[in-house]
Amino acid sequence: MARKKIIAGNWKMNMTPSEAVELINTLKPLVKNDDVDVLLCVPAIDIIPAMEAAKGSNIMIGAENMYFEEKGAFTGEISPAMLADAGVKYVIIGHSERREYFAETDETVNKKVLKAFEHEITPIICCGETLTQREQGVTIDFIRQQIKIAFLNVTAEQASKAVIAYEPIWAIGTGKVATTEQAQEVCKAIRDCIAEIYDEATAAAIRIQYGGSVSAASAPELFAQADIDGGLVGGASLKADFGKIVCYNK
Ligand code: PGA
Repeated sequence: MARKKIIAGNWKMNMTPSEAVELINTLKPLVKNDDVDVLLCVPAIDIIPAMEAAKGSNIMIGAENMYFEEKGAFTGEISPAMLADAGVKYVIIGHSERREYFAETDETVNKKVLKAFEHEITPIICCGETLTQREQGVTIDFIRQQIKIAFLNVTAEQASKAVIAYEPIWAIGTGKVATTEQAQEVCKAIRDCIAEIYDEATAAAIRIQYGGSVSAASAPELFAQADIDGGLVGGASLKADFGKIVCYNK
């Protein structure tokens, strides 16, 4: 069965609640594409007003992060149950900015992935190499390690529903998009790694996004690759341009 594309915005730390409502109202008529699952991952405080604004449209609202404990004395954190109760179905886990600025590791990513599945929230699991690692020729080894740890104790059934976002760190927010060949090569390596951990059926079902300076111009070629099932879009998801990315095949 063909995998349905999933194109997700990652708003990062942008958009106040009222700005979020305004942007969603702008985007609603621009993102109609039945071939694609359309998702906006937004700051926690924007989730509820964004969901209200997106009602009746094909836009789903997801989260950018969550904690791996159920509840308790973790000031400032958002629990999986809070997201699930708000109706959230997707959460970004282990974005490179969280790894860099908030000390997330492959181990905490794995804990969060397991928790998300427990609450029937689909994790969008981020991986990606630095420019130094690419130049050293260790990209695939590094990504395979990130994937293997992220999926520890995750069942094949859960894994088949997961989303992986391959985001080379040097391409995030830099305007420097990976070449189509580079993106396809790593996305294929990720799929092969999933086949090794689980089996061919799981590898064929899992959706793998590319992220890093995706634009309306680069999206059609990237999303036409055999192992690229959509994108995780930062900067361009804050503008009407996101509509062009979602409608890349129209
Ligand atoms: P960018 O961000 O599209 O602005 O490069 C992508 C991301 O970090 O998810």
